[in-house]
Order: sequence, then C-alpha cells, then structure tokens
Amino acid sequence: MKYGCIGERLGHSFSKEIHEAFADYEYELCEISRDKLSDFARRADFSAINVTIPYKELIMEYMHYTDPQALEIGAVNTVVNRGGKLYGYNTDFYGMTMLAHHAGVDMTNKKVVILGTGGTSKTARAVAKSLGAKEVLRVSRTAREGVITYDELYANHTDAEVIINTTPVGMFPNTSALSVDISSFKNLTGALDAIYNPIRTPFILSALERGIAAEGGLYMLVSQAVRASEIFTDTVYPQGVLDSVYKNLLQGKENIVLTGMPASGKSTVGMLLAKDLGRELHDTDALIEERAGKTITEIFRERGEGYFRTLEAEVIKDVSKKVGIIISTGGGAVLRGENVNALRANGKIYFLDRPLSALMPTDDRPLASTKEAITKIYNERYGIYISSADTVIDADCDACAVTEKIKGSHKE
Ligand code: S3P
Repeated sequence: MKYGCIGERLGHSFSKEIHEAFADYEYELCEISRDKLSDFARRADFSAINVTIPYKELIMEYMHYTDPQALEIGAVNTVVNRGGKLYGYNTDFYGMTMLAHHAGVDMTNKKVVILGTGGTSKTARAVAKSLGAKEVLRVSRTAREGVITYDELYANHTDAEVIINTTPVGMFPNTSALSVDISSFKNLTGALDAIYNPIRTPFILSALERGIAAEGGLYMLVSQAVRASEIFTDTVYPQGVLDSVYKNLLQGKENIVLTGMPASGKSTVGMLLAKDLGRELHDTDALIEERAGKTITEIFRERGEGYFRTLEAEVIKDVSKKVGIIISTGGGAVLRGENVNALRANGKIYFLDRPLSALMPTDDRPLASTKEAITKIYNERYGIYISSADTVIDADCDACAVTEKIKGSHKE
C-alpha cells in the first residue's frame, strides 16, 4: 500500500471514494487488527496513510515527529513517511473547524457541550477553544475527573449554546438512537455531529426542526481528507476542490424520496429516475407486500390499516438506512413523523404535487378507490405533504417532465 487508510473496520468508509475523486493516487482501505498495528507501523511500508478508529492515539508512539496540534489533541489521523521517518498530523481539527463554518455554527463566547470523551471529543474541544468558546464541557455516561455526566448536563447546563456529538449514538445501523434531548436546551444556537452515516442523525434532524444551525459530519470527513491529501502530496488544492468533492459525494449518497397522493405518479417517476440515474428503486408498497406475502388490499382487508401502518414504518426504517437510492413511498407514509424523520436521515423528500382533478381512483388502493375517498384524503393530507417536503415538485405534467424537474433540483 502506498496511500490508504488503516483502521479496525473500514467496511463503511467513504475515504477511498473521496481521495480518488480529486487526488491522482490509488487509495486503499486496509483493516488491521490491534495485534498487527505495531508490526505495520514499524515496517512503514507506505508513502502516506490516514488512521482511524481505534488507532488514532495508539499510532502516536511510532511517530518520529508529531505536529504540535496533533500532540495537543492527543490523536494522529495522518501519517507521512519521509525517508523512513514517520510524521504525524491531525487533520480532523481542520475538518471540524471547516464543518462549524459550513454549518454556520458560531462558537465565539459560547458555552459548548461535547458529547463523548473519545478521540474525536478531544478534537472537538480543541476546535471549540480555537473558535473562541467561553466554556467547553465534555459529557460522559460515567462520572470521572474532568467530565460531567448526562444527569449533570440536564441538571446544571441546559444553558449550553452549542452541542457537538462525538459519540456513536445515532450511527448506522442504530440510526434511530438519539444522543441528547434538544428540547431541554433553550439557548441552543448550533449543533454538530461527527457522524456522517446517516447524513443527518436524529440529533441533527431534531435541531434542524427547531431552526437551529446544524449539520452532520460529511463536510468534516471531506475536509479532513482534502487537508490530509495536501500533506500527503505536499501540494495545496484550489479552494473549490473541497466544495465540489463534497457536493458530488452528497448528491451521490443522498436518497431521492418521492411522496404524494396515490396515483400521483410516484412509482412511474421512480422507475424513470432509477433508469436515468442508474440507481436502485425501492418502492415501500412493494416492500410491504413482499414482507407480508400479501397484496395491499389483502393486508387492509385481513388486518386493517393500523397493521399496515406498522409494517410501513418498519419497511421505511430499514430502507432509509441505504444511501444513493430512489425511494417511492406509499401515499400515507408521511402521516407518521417517525417515517419522515427516517426518510430525511439520508434523503431529500420531493413531494409530487399533482392536482386533485388529475388523481384517478384505483382498485388496488383501498383508501383511494373512489373519487370521494381521494378527495377526503387529499384535503386531510395536503398540508402534511407540503410541510414534510424538502422540495415541492409541480406534477401537473407528464412523468418524463416530472422526472426532469427532480433531476434538475437534485443537482443544485
Ligand atoms: C396509501 C397509499 C398506497 C398504499 C396504501 C395506503 C395511502 O400507496 O400505501 O394503500 O394511505 O394513501 P400509493 O400512494 O402508492 O398508491
């Protein structure tokens, strides 16, 4: 390996994709078990590497030189081999600083709370201090010197103005776990999460819902990679590289979620989008039928709507964990807030706004089998479709035109 990343588990790493998008070297992901780390570092059979969990601290003892910032943080994520000597740096610091700017989270004179006490929490602490925070607290599940517990957080520090999550709570595959109850923090103006899978954790979604400046860790991930590559190759990339790599990565990963009334064209548009963009299409109604081994009509008839909605929520929770796909939802999917949140974690929601007059009754949809039934649910739901959408697509046109509109919007 000349260039790459070492860590214990790298199955979900985006680093190869990121580096190879702008650098002209091949980047390998190399899983190393703890007992092999020392051999690997002593052999130093590489040009330059990134280091990830759980080796950012352990790798430090093999460095011949460690950058002062990395020393202060106590973690190295970038190692360059210069003539057999290993030089260690920390580009996560730069990554998190860039994330704070990108998210519009200002820490000047703010009380900042950092969830977690691992390697990334030290980076977050250093970043908060360098951005002028007036007070920085770290929170741990267990009481110990220099950190506060969650009980203390809720008892004495609900005046926190910025919260940074550095714990794995909310990370794939347990994407519905919430690290902190944001409603307790009345002065909160900013929320950052180091997690990038999902793109938006429940913590970030709940902050965004309240109008708080908040962002997940994808921009941090790309920023630290670009900075690491500059150190690897001793070059400086033009300013625009970071943003264009981030934009492309986000567009590629973010799911396109279609919502709207029965017979508004979600399945057809979904198929066209999947074909044009080379993405997989996942239709939640089809997934429900598959899971139940029955048609939608049979499920409604035999088990009722409540049972159907429970199955629908399960299917949505699972399919929302994927990235880079098209999700066509059933007309009632947005009725449950938990579904909307799950879909938003990795996706952008496009509401196909087709006028009531163009919605035709259909026999295989129990709630939309007559014009009266369609009119009733249209009136009940229209506001929910609008408020749950990231983008409203005027769908009073043919499916190809709707598809083009969504493709155009997703590129912005
Ligand atoms: C429903 C819409 C249907 C299906 C089920 C319930 C609804 O999906 O999920 O019959 O509540 O509107 P389509 O919108 O794909 O027809």
